[in-house]
Amino acid sequence: MSKFIVFEGIDGSGKTTQIQLLHKALTERNIPVHITKEPTDDPMGKQLRKYLGGKEKTDLRAIAALFAADRLHHITAENGILDNLAKGRTVLCDRYYLSSYAYQSVDCDLDWIMALNREAASIARPDLHIFLDVPPEQSMQRVENRGETEEIFEKLDRQQQIRKNFFDLFEMLKDKENILIVDGTRTPETIAEEIFNKVKEIL
Ligand code: ADP
Ligand code: TYD
Repeated sequence: MSKFIVFEGIDGSGKTTQIQLLHKALTERNIPVHITKEPTDDPMGKQLRKYLGGKEKTDLRAIAALFAADRLHHITAENGILDNLAKGRTVLCDRYYLSSYAYQSVDCDLDWIMALNREAASIARPDLHIFLDVPPEQSMQRVENRGETEEIFEKLDRQQQIRKNFFDLFEMLKDKENILIVDGTRTPETIAEEIFNKVKEIL
């Protein structure tokens, strides 16, 4: 049966790299896979990227609400998460509501953010969240090396706060969510092997 697997981590933690490696491992075994990400490339996601890049400014609570709206669209749209799961594809998603909890709770009330995401959590709860743990000093260096324009959350002290928020959430949600915490400082291949071994258990 198709599974919904989400990759989480601070910026530059290696999510894109690991999604590609897991995609390769699954397709080699003839398991159909759909790769996707949040924010999406649809209109609400594009607007979010303008705010994240600092090109346009708005209230941080409006950003939290827009992430939740983009997510509901992502879940229910044609070729979205539910559609792909129904077609028997395992969905690999780069970020989901735990990102909203960890990032938006720096500026907004966590209970309110959880309430905004309650529908998403009820209609499309991931079978597994994989958290790639990398010290913020290291991931910020990776982001710098990548040479893309900086986003508003890509500051060391903020990333440290976000990493702490993730760990507080894992403790809070341990009975509700299936979370695998992976040491993301090793080679991409070693990390991918650990992830694949865990994914095999749920497939
Ligand atoms: P994310 O999608 O979480 O932002 P990426 O997969 O794009 O992360 O990785 C960020 C940068 O770090 C890229 O330049 C990538 O090549 C590099 N990278 C990814 N995984 C590792 C790793 N395990 N060790 C060292 N560098 C890595
Ligand atoms: P992303 O493009 O995945 O960044 P990276 O590849 O550097 O990890 O995500 C864009 C930014 O959006 C990133 O800083 C995390 C942030 N974000 C939130 O603040 N809340 C959310 O709900 C999501 C999905 C992302």
